[in-house]
Amino acid sequence: MKIFSGSSNKPLTEKIAKELDINLSPLEIHIFPDGERRIRVLDNVVDQGAVIVQSCSTPADTNYMELFFIADALKRSGAKLVTAVISYLGYQRQDHVFRSGEAVSLQVIAETLEAVGINKIIVVDLHSIKIKEVIHIPVIHLSALEIFAEKIKKESWIEDAVLVSPDMGGIRRVKILSEMLNYLPVITINKDRNLQTGEISIKGYKGKIAKRAIIVDDMISTGGTIVKAAELLKQKGAKEIFVFVTHAVFSSDAPKILQSSKVKFFFVTDTINIPKDRHFAKLKILSVGKLIAQNLK
Ligand code: R5P
Repeated sequence: MKIFSGSSNKPLTEKIAKELDINLSPLEIHIFPDGERRIRVLDNVVDQGAVIVQSCSTPADTNYMELFFIADALKRSGAKLVTAVISYLGYQRQDHVFRSGEAVSLQVIAETLEAVGINKIIVVDLHSIKIKEVIHIPVIHLSALEIFAEKIKKESWIEDAVLVSPDMGGIRRVKILSEMLNYLPVITINKDRNLQTGEISIKGYKGKIAKRAIIVDDMISTGGTIVKAAELLKQKGAKEIFVFVTHAVFSSDAPKILQSSKVKFFFVTDTINIPKDRHFAKLKILSVGKLIAQNLK
């Protein structure tokens, strides 16, 4: 097996390669002055399995194009089976038509992944399990929940605690984590997002507040969802709030907003590479490198 890194998340590729005890295969990614990319595979992949690791986070379009070109270059160089580890599947929140006249962007991405010859994809914590229905190549869906459960147990945060889903869409995820933690009680917040303005409002919640509230979500983008959820939990009597989120999308001012929120610590994973200048004191990063490597083995 040969492993190649796109430019979006080399640290994660290096961790996966280390776990697999193999070296990264050389790949030339040349960027022209106008931003176009030229990809060249510099290893022999004839009749071999090749793995590309790419996080299709911001800039999602550029990272997807780069992934498509790497897959094409690998196929043209004779690779037998191309697996794309898309640690963060950009456009996943556009998996169906919400309002008439809209594109289903994720379907376009899925068809292109197939068209460029990718045989299989490995993803982590999809926004919705329905996403697999628009992707017609095999999808291995991994989850960071096991990693989160381990951390919560290790820190003994189970006592007088409750798991919180910050919206109705996250109930399934939180229930799975609850099972891993001996059926820790669950709170569900009823959130609404204005599709025009992006503004978030909280309509209420179901469940009993505890001293320690552990919010679980698939991603943080602007931080709006978490900030509103944390404010509600504090207001209702929670003393300590932790957040466990798989994908640190962190759009625009999110790091600043999160640092000044009511949350004590944010645990995210490395599915998206967070540049050092976007780290903040409350941020802790857990790695999915081992989880992905185990699957590739
Ligand atoms: C939404 O359904 C997702 O699960 C996340 O809660 C959401 O995408 C987070 O976005 P933001 O941080 O912008 O509120």
